[in-house]
Amino acid sequence: MNNKGERTRWQRLWSWLKRPLALGIPIGVFLMVMGAASFQGMMVASNQNAFCFSCHLKMDTIVQEYKASSHYGDGETIPATCSDCHVPHPFVDKMIVKTIALKDVYHMMVGTITEENFEEHRPAMAENVWKDFKKNDSANCRECHQGENFDLAKQPQRARLNHEKIAARGETCIDCHQGLTHKRIVIR
Ligand code: HEC
Ligand code: HEC
Ligand code: HEC
Ligand code: HEC
Repeated sequence: MNNKGERTRWQRLWSWLKRPLALGIPIGVFLMVMGAASFQGMMVASNQNAFCFSCHLKMDTIVQEYKASSHYGDGETIPATCSDCHVPHPFVDKMIVKTIALKDVYHMMVGTITEENFEEHRPAMAENVWKDFKKNDSANCRECHQGENFDLAKQPQRARLNHEKIAARGETCIDCHQGLTHKRIVIR
């Protein structure tokens, strides 16, 4: 009787311990797989214009300016999305940018940038972006504007004459093409 009760207690304890093992491992694996899958999904979804619009429409005039620019095209076949220009392509860089962008979520929640004070914050933000483009030699511009799509021989003279000297002068796209998608900002 006593012995039996003892065994049941151990059995109960064991079956209690066993549950997380038996259920926990497959659940853990399942979550890891789902996590990896939805992580991939998140990376894609967060690259869509709608995602960028969701915050920037509420805090600045960036979206309206983009919509009026050549890179928005007619809005049907969009030449370049926000992330085509702003999210780097190699995976590690992408992760760094996405992690830094978490600070944007914070600023959004505390309302640091508003339509009212955006113009005050704007020059500093533009400088951050220019710095990134200079550091990677405008990699995202070159992702599209290369080879066939950057054929100097087919460009109007003014463009060609400027582009021919880029390498020799150590210039990069945004040294000349500023304010292409957004309002032009002149610093100092
Ligand atoms: C959760 C809201 C939110 C979303 C979504 C969002 N942003 Fe922002 N973004 C902000 C805020 C707030 C700032 C200004 C504060 C800051 O610089 O951190 C900002 C700043 C920026 C800047 C200036 C960066 C700098 O270094 O100063 C760029 C470029 C930018 N966003 C691009 C994007 C792009 C591209 C997307 C879509 C992939 C996007 N944002 C989606 C809230 C958001
Ligand atoms: C996702 C591809 C893509 C990216 C990224 C991209 N472009 Fe373009 N760009 C295009 C296409 C397509 C056109 C032609 C649009 C049209 O006029 O129909 C174009 C047009 C242009 C033009 C001529 C139209 C104008 O407004 O003067 C310039 C200049 C230009 N891009 C510079 C840049 C620079 C600088 C960058 C980086 C900051 C960049 N592009 C990033 C695809 C891209
Ligand atoms: C030294 C300054 C300078 C640099 C650097 C520069 N461009 Fe240009 N680009 C120009 C000028 C000037 C034009 C002609 C604009 C005009 O006539 O309105 C032009 C025109 C263009 C056009 C339109 C060409 C067409 O067929 O009409 C594209 C696209 C373009 N640039 C992309 C780029 C890209 C991508 C880079 C970086 C690889 C770059 N540019 C670097 C000065 C520059
Ligand atoms: C063709 C490339 C291109 C596209 C498309 C683009 N940007 Fe930019 N963005 C730039 C460049 C280059 C700068 C640096 C300032 C400048 O030259 O206008 C910039 C600057 C910014 C800034 C800093 C504030 C400012 O005015 O400089 C924010 C915020 C920003 N972009 C967000 C976005 C969002 C959100 C979208 C989509 C609605 C977008 N950008 C689309 C190239 C692009």
